Amino acid sequence: MHPVSLHQVGKTYRLGAVDVPALSDITLDIHQGAFTVLSGPSGSGKTTLLNLIGCIDMPDRGEITVAGQQVQSMPDDALSDFRARHIGFIFQNFNLIPVLSARENVEYPLALAGVAAPERRKRVEALLDAVGLSDRQHNLPAQLSGGQ
Ligand SMILES: Nc1ncnc2c1ncn2[C@@H]1O[C@H](COP(=O)(O)OP(=O)(O)OP(=O)(O)O)[C@@H](O)[C@H]1O
Ligand SMILES: [Mg+2]
Repeated sequence: MHPVSLHQVGKTYRLGAVDVPALSDITLDIHQGAFTVLSGPSGSGKTTLLNLIGCIDMPDRGEITVAGQQVQSMPDDALSDFRARHIGFIFQNFNLIPVLSARENVEYPLALAGVAAPERRKRVEALLDAVGLSDRQHNLPAQLSGGQ
């Protein structure tokens, strides 16, 4: 079983009376452990596709399986919960919470996912250490470099 699988997925945006087709008939499998690159011209549907795989948006047609779960028919609250547990997303504009420190930004989704405080502390410390940010953990996002 593939961690991500799409079958004949389609998505059309509706801008008032105008239909903007963004994706049509996308079928693909992403393999476990694979480093996968999605490339294509501007406007070809890359962000739309990632939003569907990341359960941020819903397809109009087709089936999307993520981590063994069919996501295209899940209700919104179940989808939010699923996203918190299974999806990691690094946005181009980061979407860090400006009033929370580096450490608190890492911890927040774990708290939403119901991870207990001692386990959260362990995981936050391991994650910050893995990216060399332990000594900047109390800095706000605005007090970090772009790369940090
Ligand atoms: N919210 C929206 N409402 C209406 N049309 C949209 C919306 N978002 C994207 N589109 C249209 O859907 C198509 C796919 O857009 P998408 O953002 O997925 O492209 P992209 O491959 O990510 O492009 P880029 O490389 O420029 O980021 C384009 O024709 C775009 O104009
Ligand atoms: Mg894009």
